[in-house]
This record gives sequence, C-alpha cells and structure tokens, in this order.
Amino acid sequence: MAGCFITFEGGEGAGKSTQIARLKARLEQLSQPVLVTREPGGSPHAEEIRAFILEGRAKHLGPFAEALLFAAARIDHLDKTIEPALRSGTHVLCDRFADSTRAYQGSLGNIDKGLIDQLERVTLRGIKPDLTLILDLPAETGLARAGARQAGKGEGADRFEEEDLSFHQSLRQAFLSIARAEPKRCVVINADQDPDEVETAIWAALRERLPQMTEPTERPLDVA
Ligand code: TYD
Repeated sequence: MAGCFITFEGGEGAGKSTQIARLKARLEQLSQPVLVTREPGGSPHAEEIRAFILEGRAKHLGPFAEALLFAAARIDHLDKTIEPALRSGTHVLCDRFADSTRAYQGSLGNIDKGLIDQLERVTLRGIKPDLTLILDLPAETGLARAGARQAGKGEGADRFEEEDLSFHQSLRQAFLSIARAEPKRCVVINADQDPDEVETAIWAALRERLPQMTEPTERPLDVA
C-alpha cells in the first residue's frame, strides 16, 4: 500500500485521541497526507453498529457475538475508508482496531485464540497495521482520567467503561501480551507521563519504524 497504516490501542483514558490529534498535526506540517479514523465506526454503516454495541444492546448476546459485530463494522470500515485511503497514498491513523477485539472480546471474553485468529484473518484479508502503538498506563489512572472526562461532558460510562477495575487490569495485561507476541508491529508507549513526553515517545517510534513518514514530502522551493 502507498500509505502507512498506524493503529492506536490501549485501555480507557490512555490519551489516544490527544496523541492522534498531535501526530496528525505533526505529519501535516511535513505535508504528509493523513486521515484520522476510529473503531468501532469510521464509515456510516460501521458508526450505526458502534451505537448499537456501545449502548450495551449486544451485551446479552455474549462476547463472541460482540466480536462478530465489531468484525462486521471493521469490514465496512476497511472497504469504505481505510483501504481507499491507503491505496491513494494517504496515511491512516486509527483509534483502536483488531487488537481491541483480541483484548476485550478475546482475552477478557475468554474466546478461544484460534477462533479470534480465524475471525481476524477473514475480516482483515491481509491488511495489517504497519505500526501499532499501545498506550500503556495503570488501569486506576486510566479509569480516573476517563471518569473526569465524562463528568466534564455530563456523560455516563459506556458498555466497557462500566466494567470493574480487575477487568481493566486484565485488559492492560492483554494488550501487553499482544505487544510481546508481535514485537515487529507493536511498540508499547508509556502513557503515564506528560502528554508532551508521550508525543515525543510516539515520534521516536515513528522515526525508528516508519522513517519515511517523518520527513517532509516536498522539498521547499529553492529561493533565488
Ligand atoms: P470509545 O468511546 O471509542 O472508547 P475509547 O476512548 O476507550 O477508545 O469506545 C470504544 C469501546 O469499544 C472501548 O471501550 C473499547 C471497545 N472495543 C471493543 O471492545 N472491541 C473492539 O474491537 C473495539 C474496536 C472496541
């Protein structure tokens, strides 16, 4: 693919949206074409599925059915948004992707790993992120941040935020074990620090893994 595909993963309140916005701004300064998207969602039909899941309407169907719904949303998102952007040379920054299904539904929902592997294979059809940034921080810190953000907006917790602390602690371990299993694709970023420091760590990961993205795309005009 002509564009690079970067996914951001991690628990609740890890600061993914802030860091995605910062990375987008940095890439645009270098005239790198970039598209920001999210999961579940990122295309009109996938956004409809997002609302259904996050309102908790699929919870009673169990984790495997939820995984299928996330996968259905992901197929539309790949077809309508991600693949066309990558083909046209636009880099894609995606807030959550298939690793969230592995961690939330797979590990925490106790779905057999082989089944999740099969589901991922048919859903992604070979499109894998070039780089996955796993924003890691203690579950207590992330939940406190997410709670403060909701209180500020006058919102309640969604389907997964309302799970208890031990759920979120296991979630952290699930993401760390994905990173250990796929070290070429994944980089763990310490998100329990100042946002400027997190931004610097993310940029350093890009320079190492995808250096072509950290250079200007057009040379400045020669000044006579
Ligand atoms: P969102 O509000 O986007 O949460 P966050 O800011 O933490 O990214 O809600 C997405 C929720 O859906 C989040 O709790 C993680 C969950 N999720 C899954 O359980 N499986 C998935 O495959 C995806 C993409 C998300």
